[in-house]
Amino acid sequence: MSIAIVIGTRPEIIKMAPVIRECQRRGLDYFLLHTGQHYSYEMDRVFFEQLELPPAEFNLDVGSGTHADQTGRIMTGIEKVLMRAMPDLVLVQGDTNTVLAGALAASKLHIKIGHVEAGLRSYDRSMPEEINRVVADHISDYLFAPTENSKLNLINEGIPEEKISVTGNTIVDSVYQNRLIADRKVNVLRDLGLRPRDYFLVTAHRAENVDNSSRLKEILKGLHLIKSEFGLPVLFPMHPRTRKMVHEFGFELDGIMDIDPLGFLQFLQLEANAKIALTDSGGVQEEACILGVPCVTLRDNTERPETLDVKSNILAGANAEKMLMGAKQMIGCANHWRNPFGDGQASKRIVDSIRND
Ligand code: UD1
Ligand code: UDP
Repeated sequence: MSIAIVIGTRPEIIKMAPVIRECQRRGLDYFLLHTGQHYSYEMDRVFFEQLELPPAEFNLDVGSGTHADQTGRIMTGIEKVLMRAMPDLVLVQGDTNTVLAGALAASKLHIKIGHVEAGLRSYDRSMPEEINRVVADHISDYLFAPTENSKLNLINEGIPEEKISVTGNTIVDSVYQNRLIADRKVNVLRDLGLRPRDYFLVTAHRAENVDNSSRLKEILKGLHLIKSEFGLPVLFPMHPRTRKMVHEFGFELDGIMDIDPLGFLQFLQLEANAKIALTDSGGVQEEACILGVPCVTLRDNTERPETLDVKSNILAGANAEKMLMGAKQMIGCANHWRNPFGDGQASKRIVDSIRND
């Protein structure tokens, strides 16, 4: 069986890395197709270097654009590659435009699709990611749901149970595989002059937050409130989208330690040692939960309700007062929750289930 593994953005590279490694380990016939949705060194190549991934056989170099433009160009590029290579299976991961385009292009060529991280739902159709994941799930042949809850979401939408496997989330594999490597290879706290459990770690990049001036302003206000309440550094490795919008809106960041996005090893180390994480990222909500670090999510909903259930996470929206209250509440919480995202063997289960079919 030949497999095309499609990736395009930072989280897809990080979460697909253990699947790629598992395919390598078993000597499977696979190739990597990178759409080039992310392309800056710190959003792309750094992860290939740090996670020691082979270079992609194909890179479509699509870059940025409006949704239709980007998705359309990815579809056209993927179709060309798939028509030539005609793999038996296309694997996509997550909920980006790369996933939507990859799944659509494959389905029109009647190539089977495996969706890694299937069944997540925010039930908020204003998010582009929700549209992407719903469409990808409904045209996939193999649905790799990270949790029982995500499986239930799929069943409730009428997807046949025999297509679904609960595998755990491959982010656990990635965290377990890289946590110790990070401590051997990097010392980012020393480099940034930070002490363990003595700083707040922030990320924000969701379109609905950072492209909206009042929401972004409120998030920055919340970070300033938290900084003055606790008198601790607030570190914000800033996604390029956010950097662009802060500049466009003319907002000041004074007092917040804004830096460029970091490699996975550095970021993982910073997450593991943070007092709490404040984020609108899906992956960061999961990683904080896995690492035992409390999280305040800068959104009104989450497609990771497992984190709310185990109480590793609370929702603060883009509301400065709620962010401060959330930080106060989460700092005091005991972090003995159960990790709901699996045992770090998700990639093995995914490859097993493809191979056994
Ligand atoms: C995309 C995904 C989002 C995911 C995120 C991970 C969609 C609809 N969105 O959002 O679900 O959580 O990736 O980070 O697929 N840019 C750069 N360099 C890059 C990439 C982007 O400078 O390497 C800048 C460009 O100005 C670009 C903007 O960031 O216009 C947004 O990039 P885009 O890929 O469209 O969306 P993300 O916000 O990254
Ligand atoms: N990440 C990273 N460097 C950073 C910020 C995040 O390596 O400076 C990693 C983080 O560990 C997680 C992933 O990027 O695995 C999350 O990606 P992002 O927040 O861009 O997307 P989302 O998960 O929301 O789709």
